[in-house]
Amino acid sequence: MLLEAASATDARTVEQLAADLDEPPQAVTRAAFELEDAGLLAVEERGEETVTLTEEGREYVESGLPERRLYDAAVEAGADESPVPLGELLGDAGLDGPTVDVALANFARKGFGEIDAGSVTVAETPRVDPADDPEAGALAAVEAGETDSIDGSTLDRLEDRGLVRRASRTVRSVTVTDEGVTALMEGIETAETVTGLTPDLLTSGEWRDVEFTEYNVEADAETTYGGRKHVLRQTADRVKDVLVGMGFSEMEGPHADAEFWINDCLFMPQDHPARTHWDQFGLDVPPMRELPEELVERVRSAHREGVGEDGDGYHSPWTEDVAREVDLRGHTTSLSMRYLSGNAVGDLEPPQRYFSVEKVYRNDTLDPTHLLEFFQIEGWVMAEELSVRDLMGTFTEFYEQFGITDLEFKPHYNPYTEPSFELFGTHPETGEMVEIGNSGIFREEVLRPLGVECDVMAWGLALERLLMLMYGFEDIRDVHGTLCDLDLLRTTEAVY
Ligand code: PHE
Repeated sequence: MLLEAASATDARTVEQLAADLDEPPQAVTRAAFELEDAGLLAVEERGEETVTLTEEGREYVESGLPERRLYDAAVEAGADESPVPLGELLGDAGLDGPTVDVALANFARKGFGEIDAGSVTVAETPRVDPADDPEAGALAAVEAGETDSIDGSTLDRLEDRGLVRRASRTVRSVTVTDEGVTALMEGIETAETVTGLTPDLLTSGEWRDVEFTEYNVEADAETTYGGRKHVLRQTADRVKDVLVGMGFSEMEGPHADAEFWINDCLFMPQDHPARTHWDQFGLDVPPMRELPEELVERVRSAHREGVGEDGDGYHSPWTEDVAREVDLRGHTTSLSMRYLSGNAVGDLEPPQRYFSVEKVYRNDTLDPTHLLEFFQIEGWVMAEELSVRDLMGTFTEFYEQFGITDLEFKPHYNPYTEPSFELFGTHPETGEMVEIGNSGIFREEVLRPLGVECDVMAWGLALERLLMLMYGFEDIRDVHGTLCDLDLLRTTEAVY
């Protein structure tokens, strides 16, 4: 049938043939490839671009581009003579909400005029002729389906503005070959082939006699997107696997916790800027009632009187009321305190290794490397004798698993560790050094009250920063939160 519907002189597209034959285009494509294999048809493929209007684009085809509306309203109001306050023009121009910004940005870009101190002046000779604006013309052409006439840069601009959508597809056209013509004239036998085995074929026994269509593994197939793990979750799971492989056990505990576990156990003085430095989110809830009394007393004493013979403590106020206030944890070191104190899984004898990969919350300012919540890879090792070399060695071993081999360490200060180190890695795209974690060896003032008599080295690493180094992301918001692009999630390869 296809052979008969196709022509030896005019190339006809699969779509046209499918319509003529009243068959689905996929079936026609399949048949065309089979006939091509048999030498009876020639199939030619070319890429074709389709351009369609977005909803916003369609709106502007109807009502005019916002910058043009602003221009017209301004001219109407005499802004070619003297400046007119923008506020007086918006109503006439039919602009509100986000279209105001669209209008202003493009009004300036096209040199329609100037906006100064909230007033609009219209240019004597605008750079782009408002009455003959290529962008407006192109939008109308897209609407009319005449996209060939539009020049590339105008189309790019419309795409950047989100007014048109471009997609490419493969168009196949078919012509009958000389051999095909001969075969048609001699009369060919058409064999019906069966594409799928059905229960009917099986029960009737017909399956024995029919001819099955061969698979064409080269045919285009529609891309299907199954469900998959978010890259961030995928990496979190891998981090857990790696740490378990290194002999660590997982900690868990509350996201909202007493300041006692978040700050006081960590020898952070109650009036110290470090506490506001963490900028934790305080919660308007009743204070934490259950705190281990003896530990509270030992922590208080460490703050007030110090630890050990030479210890002096901070000469600053310390109250249980502050310690009982509940915050969203600004770090998961609160979990380490709960575990080291013996309050989570009972007293621990060295050697021990624990970790968590959990959310923390900080009142930071949003920017490409900061979010209000992120995942921290917390961890600690408890052993009789630990040194900075153990700390560095652990990081080297851990990050190697993720292909990061250029770690750098920088001396740092934490109220709870001495010595302390920040960790840095190099961003694969920008080449910049990115801070990826903070670490150190817990001080006596932290360990003694907890009842720990050996050494403990510890760290908090940022999961999102690890992702940046692994995948080259430059903005944390690409992988976190509502701005995260679906396409990126679908296409990001798993890195192992
Ligand atoms: N709590 C630190 C942070 O959030 C990380 C850290 C944990 C540092 C344990 C040293 C020891 O930056």
